[in-house]
Amino acid sequence: MANLFYTRYLKPPPTIVTAGKPFNIVWTVANDLGEISYWQPLTICCRLIPAATSSSSPKTATHLTLQHHGSSPASKKKSLCNMVELQYDPVKGGGVMTTSLVVSGSSAGSRTVGSNSNSVTFQLVLELAGSQYIEHPVWTRARLLKSQYDDDDDDDAWVIPVFSLPVHLATSSQQHGKSSSVRDYERRVTIKNYSNDANSTKPQQHIIRIHEDASPSIGSHIWDCGMLMCQYLAEQQYQQQQPHFDRILELGSGTAIAGIYAAHMLNPSIIYLTDLDDTVPTVRHNVSLQQHKAQSEKSIVVEELEWGQTDISNKCVNLVLLTDVLYNPAFHDALIDTLSKLVETNPKLKVLLGYKPRDQGEERTFFDKIGKLGWQWQMSLLPPAEIYWISKQ
Ligand SMILES: C[S@@+](CC[C@H](N)C(=O)[O-])C[C@H]1O[C@@H](n2cnc3c(N)ncnc32)[C@H](O)[C@@H]1O
Repeated sequence: MANLFYTRYLKPPPTIVTAGKPFNIVWTVANDLGEISYWQPLTICCRLIPAATSSSSPKTATHLTLQHHGSSPASKKKSLCNMVELQYDPVKGGGVMTTSLVVSGSSAGSRTVGSNSNSVTFQLVLELAGSQYIEHPVWTRARLLKSQYDDDDDDDAWVIPVFSLPVHLATSSQQHGKSSSVRDYERRVTIKNYSNDANSTKPQQHIIRIHEDASPSIGSHIWDCGMLMCQYLAEQQYQQQQPHFDRILELGSGTAIAGIYAAHMLNPSIIYLTDLDDTVPTVRHNVSLQQHKAQSEKSIVVEELEWGQTDISNKCVNLVLLTDVLYNPAFHDALIDTLSKLVETNPKLKVLLGYKPRDQGEERTFFDKIGKLGWQWQMSLLPPAEIYWISKQ
């Protein structure tokens, strides 16, 4: 079983940096809860890439160089390019690394966008360095770190990269005011769509961008279950095992990584992405980020929905999507209440659940409860998660 580890900005780069002036990033490599750091030293590549924007003509970030602040003139010459290598050390500072960087260069050669002809933006990616690793087919630029012990898959780890928000490069002569610090950063998943052209072996490909942040709110993080659900949907699509679901409802969307992926992959005529009121802005923001519009884009509806409380009598859906929503057994009755009301409206309702056992699996009481109500399920293992198809018929 491969573990999932995330490069994570604890302090991302600011949204404006001045050419030639140093700025700090604080970063780590940790699991989805953030409570376990990756256990061995790693070389992480910090790479400068052109910023993705919601504009159809992205700005290029050519002629920019990235360096460690304070690197010697000799090593400066060597590192005149768009990446630097950073050493991650789990022992030093508990794996919390602080790095000082400098970006230099000019906007010469950049394409202009909008009214600001000198504008250059870039993003800084933290990813596993080296070309020898297997790349994940769905989680953009994630790489598999094999265990040193060949027969022990339990120590394999996927290292999932983090992208900063777009950073604007100001020249020292420009007055851009104070550079603003942010807590947000970006993850990406790749959609490969094989279904549109039966004669083509080459899939159409585009990227789903999802923002998360370092705040303690559970709804603003990417969790393993969401990543694994994207992988599961992609595998089903590739094997052409996916029945068509026309009306989808996601409960507890969080960053909506699974729901937005499903909107693009399954092309329903309507998909509701729902969560508690404090998380709805995160969902809305992530829907707005997508450059490639899902066919169902006009029909992505973001709504507040509290399990067991919100009236859902107007919702008739044929698929409910759930990822990482069983973590608190105190919410199970409310969740089951909402599912039961949905199945009253459509007895053929299917529920697709991504569940990752935590706390010695005490959340499994959910299955005892739905079993008593006559629900049935089929499980596929997608370590470290389990994927369930649940229905009442
Ligand atoms: C661990 S997060 C998972 C988020 C997302 N599904 C994912 O896999 O990345 C659990 C989500 O369930 C939502 N949630 C928790 N209790 C809820 C309730 N009673 N009603 C609606 N949403 C709830 C939280 O706000 C949070 O976004």
